[in-house]
Amino acid sequence: MDELVLGIESSCDETSAAVVKSGNRVLSNIIWTQMDIHSRYGGVVPELASRRHLEAVLPVVDRALREAGVRGRDLHCISVVNGPGLLGALLVGLTAAKALSLAWEVPLLGVHHIVAHVYANFLGDEEPEFPLVCLVVSGGHTEILFMPGHGRFELLGRTRDDAAGEAFDKTARLLGLGYPGGKEIDRLAQEGDPEAVPLPRSYLEEGSLDFSFSGVKTAMIHALDQAGRAYSLEDLAASFQKAVVDVLVDKTFAAAERYRVRQVLLAGGVAANSELRRRTHAEGAKRGIRVLLPPPSLCTDNAAMVASAGTYLYRMGVRSSLSLNAVASLQIPGCG
Ligand code: KG4
Ligand code: ZN
Repeated sequence: MDELVLGIESSCDETSAAVVKSGNRVLSNIIWTQMDIHSRYGGVVPELASRRHLEAVLPVVDRALREAGVRGRDLHCISVVNGPGLLGALLVGLTAAKALSLAWEVPLLGVHHIVAHVYANFLGDEEPEFPLVCLVVSGGHTEILFMPGHGRFELLGRTRDDAAGEAFDKTARLLGLGYPGGKEIDRLAQEGDPEAVPLPRSYLEEGSLDFSFSGVKTAMIHALDQAGRAYSLEDLAASFQKAVVDVLVDKTFAAAERYRVRQVLLAGGVAANSELRRRTHAEGAKRGIRVLLPPPSLCTDNAAMVASAGTYLYRMGVRSSLSLNAVASLQIPGCG
């Protein structure tokens, strides 16, 4: 099948629109980032985000269509993230999607932001096979999902405090790096010794697939307080990164073994982390489990993943009505 689907994403600080063909071929993927506005505040300012989305959304959609060489009326469906995220930001993308759906007489389809991240793995030639386990690690989420088939999810584990990306960003701030700092920690860690700073690994109760990152963050504060700059930034970054990645990888493969799946996926912004990618590949090879990861550029927020998820849901007959609402704390379908 060769459906043409437009994806729209505006849940946080990126305005993005993309056209994807057949669920896996990216014809365009325009991302207008607002990082310049928010970095000076050390985090995303919701009101500023909504205003910038408002300016950006139609030009970004227009560019995505032009780059793909597609007219609005040729689309099979418009898929848009309707949650979770910043309510004002979500409403901008959703309202634009509704208006375009009406104007072009094209069906509308609401997509969960995390589901969209998972479907970044379907953009490309190698299609994942079910059943599978996916670790979703972003600025707002850390979840291990079991996926028996398209559009079906079971929540196996989640963070009890900070999301993995949040832990990276807070630690980066502690180290005096910019916002968001995950990428910078990744870069510094390449030159550091991951064993230099003793940090705890939080495994919680025996057999639990949940996560907690507050302990490692507190230990980093102590390491800085006690030693001042006795540890190099590179060693601090490498040690922190390893402490987080150790637990993420161990629990993901524990879930894969428990659910007897032969396939593991990564998704979300932190899936761009080079140490997490390397270790997941290595662990998969050791256990004979196939590992698939999106390219780093498709791990962070983008609309191609939204269009891919939209295509598979469209094939399943899913449609949304024009009364679709934006929900800041939307639950993953089936995981409520
Ligand atoms: O998925 P995403 O773009 O937005 C959310 O849905 O939250 O993820 C953003 C998060 C940020 O916390 C950022 O610091 C983190 O992904 N991130 C990374 C890397 N690249 C982005 N964390 C660690 N290593 C990276 N290379
Ligand atoms: Zn995201």
